[in-house]
Amino acid sequence: MIVESKEAIKVEKTTLNKKFHLISYGCQMNFADSEVVASILESIGYSNTNTIENSDLILLNTCSIREKAEQTIRKKLSSIDHLKKKNRTLKIGVLGCMAERLKEKFLIEEKIVDLVVGPDAYRDLPNLLKEVNSGNDAVNVLLSKDETYGDINPQRFNTNGISAFVSITRGCDNMCTFCVVPFTRGRERSRDPKSIINEILDLKNKGYKEITLLGQNVDSYLWYGGGLKKDFKNASEIQKKTALNFSKLLDLVANEFPKMRIRFTTSNPQDFHDEVIFTMKKHKNICNHIHLPVQSGSDVILKAMNRQHSRDEYLELISKIKGILPDCGFSHDMITGFPNETARDHELTLSLMEEVKYDFGFMFKYSERPGTLASRKLDDNIDEETKQNRLSEIINLQQKHSLENLSKYVGNKTEVLIEKESKKSNDHWAGRNEQNIMVVFPKKNLHPGELVEIFIESNTATTLIGKAI
Ligand code: 5AD
Ligand code: SF4
Repeated sequence: MIVESKEAIKVEKTTLNKKFHLISYGCQMNFADSEVVASILESIGYSNTNTIENSDLILLNTCSIREKAEQTIRKKLSSIDHLKKKNRTLKIGVLGCMAERLKEKFLIEEKIVDLVVGPDAYRDLPNLLKEVNSGNDAVNVLLSKDETYGDINPQRFNTNGISAFVSITRGCDNMCTFCVVPFTRGRERSRDPKSIINEILDLKNKGYKEITLLGQNVDSYLWYGGGLKKDFKNASEIQKKTALNFSKLLDLVANEFPKMRIRFTTSNPQDFHDEVIFTMKKHKNICNHIHLPVQSGSDVILKAMNRQHSRDEYLELISKIKGILPDCGFSHDMITGFPNETARDHELTLSLMEEVKYDFGFMFKYSERPGTLASRKLDDNIDEETKQNRLSEIINLQQKHSLENLSKYVGNKTEVLIEKESKKSNDHWAGRNEQNIMVVFPKKNLHPGELVEIFIESNTATTLIGKAI
């Protein structure tokens, strides 16, 4: 729960017994933010409902990463609009990246919603809701220089009670030319390690067994007492000497919570330091899996994307990691059909995938985002059919590699943290191994939260199937 301010207590009286329904879209960061939002709402008397028809407040935590994501959210907004006719006091709000990108356009020009709140402004929700409940529109899309939500204990709803995300950075300074995130989530800031440790301690006390340290670019985590990453150069000598980087944070968390499994995401090649690999090797409780987006296998495209690493540098990093952590699993993000991408560039993406042989990946067609450097300087000139064909080719190749990689587990055992019931069978548990691969096996007398050795008998491209030893 958040520390209640006088303002929050005042609002509580008017919001008592009100129900909110919160729908999250997009990245894990958004889902983690929704837990912060739920905590703020509950502190002012709202309670969560899973039934949209029963709610007094519907909030959509939105994503702007690709045009399709925004279209999905617009469709959802149209489909819930009729609820306002049934319940005249119902309020609808848009949170997150789309709120930040479109700002008051949502309210003033389009008259769609009552409330628009950007990713750094959730602390202002009690005041904004007061405005909204008095019949006014409310907007806050200010971005912050501070980490923003360090002292708020997220309200874990829709959780399996075993695995949780813990935010460690916000924003991104990388400025990949295709990406809207630096505009919607602002400059990069790191969270006070004390509040990270406190949050994990709370999770441990509640019985959680695994945490994923979360940020757009975790490897660039840097705590020097607060402030933007880009201002570190102006920090005092003492701040510089005592600064905590990502590998040190990882080491701290792994030491502090030896029984917890630790994961992290997302990594970016240019910020990935060797120290992180050694910290992973040192601690058995840090999972050997790295999500390492590359976006393209062609140097020409990587340059146009402003990725700040070449194909060779990326491949060298992968082989260095494999040398030190032989059983490390890798996954990727890939974009196909970036402006001016030639058939040769596409071949280079396929050949990079052949070299790495990722366990899994997230693959997307390039989607031009207004305001990004790519949209201002480059023509979105790869036709839809070519984009789709190239996407299908990389998806098919990934499918082949996933099948090959997962089949290597057959006949061997792998350690799994039991998380939940399998979606396909209520006689089976599902959980992930260190490499972040889903494993399904008969329940027997096992329980969620247990770490078990599973003997693998068969596999699909996404799942290992076996039985407890
Ligand atoms: N078009 C397509 N994919 C994108 N991503 C980010 N921006 C875009 C865009 N404009 C993908 C990248 C990133 C992931 C989170 O989303 O692959 O790593
Ligand atoms: Fe976007 Fe690049 Fe930052 Fe990832 S690293 S959030 S793709 S700008």
